[in-house]
Amino acid sequence: MTGELSPIDKAKYVAAKRAADYVEDGMRVGLGTGSTAAWLVRCLGEQVREDGLRFKGVPTSTRTADLAREVGIDVISLDEAKWLDITIDGADEFDGNLNLIKGGGGALLQEKIVATASDQMVVIADIGKEVEHLGSFPLPIELIPFGWQTTQALVEETLISMDVLGRQSSLRMNGDRPFVTDEGNYILDLHLQRIGNPRQLSLVINQMPGVVENGLFIDICDAVVIGYGDGRVEVRDINEGTVEHERLDFLESDNLFTELAD
Ligand code: A5P
Repeated sequence: MTGELSPIDKAKYVAAKRAADYVEDGMRVGLGTGSTAAWLVRCLGEQVREDGLRFKGVPTSTRTADLAREVGIDVISLDEAKWLDITIDGADEFDGNLNLIKGGGGALLQEKIVATASDQMVVIADIGKEVEHLGSFPLPIELIPFGWQTTQALVEETLISMDVLGRQSSLRMNGDRPFVTDEGNYILDLHLQRIGNPRQLSLVINQMPGVVENGLFIDICDAVVIGYGDGRVEVRDINEGTVEHERLDFLESDNLFTELAD
């Protein structure tokens, strides 16, 4: 089955598998959204079922909640957990300071709330997500539907005075209708190409009426687990200042792959 996985999927899988080691018995764990985070949820579910791992999971989207329950993870709400030991989530881009763009999957609001309510945030990503400057990936911002075109115009006008290369934006669509988030909001994708000052941009965007949150995660991420298509994994911890390298084996008989093949 592993032969059917693309190098990027293998990279996502090994990053997720390595990051699952952060989870210990009794923890309250934020579970991210996206294809990399889905691997993590499957890995953790396997450990729950086969190794008796016991922890509470707080999902960052309805689709993660559905998957977590399906694989046997004990799911609770953020308010039930109150505070989390760790959140593990994917990212669309990360830079050398471990600042992130997130929200490609449309779950940035819950993801930011959950990550901010955690002692530690660990990002899992394939090496293709690393960038020198954030902004090649369109920056998602979550808007309330009321007056969204007026908010879009305000955002684009404000971008004139920001340190960015592009100022175009597009409403995210789901077929011929606006994409709607779990919170009932819209997503505006900002095509900025290069963000010179992510911290300033994040603060300014969030000042605008109609904007609920943006996908810049500044000073939230503590460590990144980077996967490569050949099974190598790199763990960078920005607080400890450490970088570790290892290699994970793909097992043809791995239950996870067998389940996916079914
Ligand atoms: C979800 O809203 C996003 O923040 C995802 O975490 C991000 O898009 C990464 O997704 P993949 O792991 O699918 O690349």
